[in-house]
Amino acid sequence: MALRKLIAGNWKMHGQSSDLEEIAAIAAASRQFENVDIALCVPAILIERASRAVPDLAIGGQDVHHAEKGAHTGCISADMLLDAGAALTIVGHSERRDAQRESDAEVKAKAEAALRCGLSAILCVGESLALREQGAAVSTVLAQLDGSLPDRPASDAELAVAYEPVWAIGTGKIPTTAEIGEMHAAIRECLLSRYGDQGQSVRILYGGSVKASNAAEIFTVPDVDGALVGGASLRAADFLPIVAAAAAAQPRAA
Ligand code: 13P
Repeated sequence: MALRKLIAGNWKMHGQSSDLEEIAAIAAASRQFENVDIALCVPAILIERASRAVPDLAIGGQDVHHAEKGAHTGCISADMLLDAGAALTIVGHSERRDAQRESDAEVKAKAEAALRCGLSAILCVGESLALREQGAAVSTVLAQLDGSLPDRPASDAELAVAYEPVWAIGTGKIPTTAEIGEMHAAIRECLLSRYGDQGQSVRILYGGSVKASNAAEIFTVPDVDGALVGGASLRAADFLPIVAAAAAAQPRAA
């Protein structure tokens, strides 16, 4: 089976009702790329309106609480995201691991809560620059996976892993293709040892300064099954060339 590439946008804390037109533009242009899965993870307040406006584009959240309901002021459960029209959510983004001090165990609980409800999850991992310079990039990411991967991969919903080196996010710097390849191969090994053959069909995305100018090269790297895109996902004109590069890339047999 050939595995389709997944290109997911992470809008972070950008987007208000005036940006629904841009979401509609991305959805309209996306329809020409039949061999790529496309998703936009927007601020929670836009999920319902975006999913109503563009029902054929997968809309996602950027975080989820691990509990079903309860006294958790300001938090949103997986069921609530689904109810608002989301099909997926990001969990464990480095900006949350850092600013909200999210632990691997918490990220695992969030991923499991999402998958249990039928919400797909993109689980983020990635090392800091200091750890890469110490030669500890792969061991750091493997330790994060060890602590944050759900016990079982999804059945109805999909688990994907996003490798996002912290030092590449929003900086314009990216690892070499050899470094991306080394990391994605290590992540694949980990998925196979955790999930057996099912680990083959977990998509591994690369994230961190993905742009129209570097996407095609990144998609030539083995085991890169797509991208998680921040800044370049905010405008159709920047995002769609990345989708086009994925559409032109070789699919991976899984
Ligand atoms: P940039 O594409 O802006 O570097 O952000 C990457 C990211 O954090 C996506 O989750």
